[in-house]
Amino acid sequence: MSKKNRKLFSTRSQKYKKSIEECTNIVATSPFWIHFSATIKVELNGSNPSSILCYGLGNFFESIQSKYQLGLLLTIKNEFKVKNCYVYDPKFTDAERSHLTEIGCDSLCENEEGKRSLLPGTFVYMPHCPKQLLNNLLWANWNKEILTSCIIVCNSIDQTVTSTLDRILNKYAYYVQKISPHVIEKKCCDDFIYDDVFNDMALHIFPNEKLKELEDIFWERGKEPLYDDDELEFITKFECMSFQS
Ligand SMILES: C[S@@+](CC[C@H](N)C(=O)[O-])C[C@H]1O[C@@H](n2cnc3c(N)ncnc32)[C@H](O)[C@@H]1O
Repeated sequence: MSKKNRKLFSTRSQKYKKSIEECTNIVATSPFWIHFSATIKVELNGSNPSSILCYGLGNFFESIQSKYQLGLLLTIKNEFKVKNCYVYDPKFTDAERSHLTEIGCDSLCENEEGKRSLLPGTFVYMPHCPKQLLNNLLWANWNKEILTSCIIVCNSIDQTVTSTLDRILNKYAYYVQKISPHVIEKKCCDDFIYDDVFNDMALHIFPNEKLKELEDIFWERGKEPLYDDDELEFITKFECMSFQS
């Protein structure tokens, strides 16, 4: 890189860093955070998450929504003193990945399609992600001990199930639909300064009192979910391989 380009790159990344710090401060001092952090604290009941897993933030150097969503991620990380914070979006640029490392997040390098086995006590954050991603995550963790120990913040499961045709749910969100009657969700307040950042999102818990009633057969899972067409913004690992080659 030439000296001039290096300077330009450095000025640009300073500008991005500053704007992410500003967004984080705005989130951390907002009435939205006062309400949302109180909800999280009730559910954590004095403990802190063992780690955070975040999928689907989007391009936070460019997108306003993604910047504030990253601001919330960092605010949660700070407030609950979470050291391990794993973040992945196939659309991240190299500069965004480097920035995540600088601010103490581990940017995952592989597209796991959401099929990651969660550690007990993981706080999952998937802002406005495709249905398939949550479906895959549930499939990979289709186990009551794991689910009861985790919290998932994502698009409201109840809203997803009630507003989507059964045909689509069967195809892309079978496990989302199956777990939905057994989930408790707390809607995120829609009092943030922008109404398209945390809209339609909710915090989901999987209470032991509900899950323990389910028969063993409920927990038998089918074969790995695969989707044969690219629907609803879900990016498969095969697509990532073809970007790279
Ligand atoms: C609707 S966009 C949401 C972006 C941003 N969070 C927002 O609210 O504007 C869905 C995001 O999911 C990401 N995504 C798609 N497939 C994914 C995968 N396999 N793993 C992680 N993220 C994925 C997309 O790259 C995209 O950034």
